[in-house]
Amino acid sequence: MSCNDCNKVGDPRYDELQVYIDSLRDKPHFESYLIAVLHRAQGLFGYLSEETMNYVSCDMNIPTAQIWGVATFYHFFNLAEQGKHTVSVCMGTACYVKGAAEVLETLKKELGVEVGETSADKIFTLDEARCVGACGLAPVMMIDDEIYGDLTPDKVVAIIKKYREKAKGAA
Ligand code: FES
Repeated sequence: MSCNDCNKVGDPRYDELQVYIDSLRDKPHFESYLIAVLHRAQGLFGYLSEETMNYVSCDMNIPTAQIWGVATFYHFFNLAEQGKHTVSVCMGTACYVKGAAEVLETLKKELGVEVGETSADKIFTLDEARCVGACGLAPVMMIDDEIYGDLTPDKVVAIIKKYREKAKGAA
């Protein structure tokens, strides 16, 4: 069975999503696989767009409002396009007292975004985190899985510059 209303012919990612949904369709409580389907969709598209959620809604016959409810409830779902790298500033207590707010402000200015947004060059998404377990290095930020500590505004700018150059060199 396929979703005729939302058929996205020509985009292989929708084809793959369709195959995955079809593999679940005969299972008992098919709708209970919604989170798994949304995970797969996010893996394919990088985030959950309105279009993708409408597709899932149509194909699984689940109301769009319910899909939105699930997608917005869980922190691990992204509703906006993500940058190549996620920059997470630790706002835990140890980092906060050592200047995390200044680190965050530097990043907002340097990247031209607010928390949760992606830079215009699509290289960085800015995020906040709670204690990442490196309080001795406070203030701390993570870029993807890499931890950077003892940050100052100058250090932050230099680190971002390095990532920017690398991303542009690879493009
Ligand atoms: S509070 Fe930032 S690493 Fe612990």
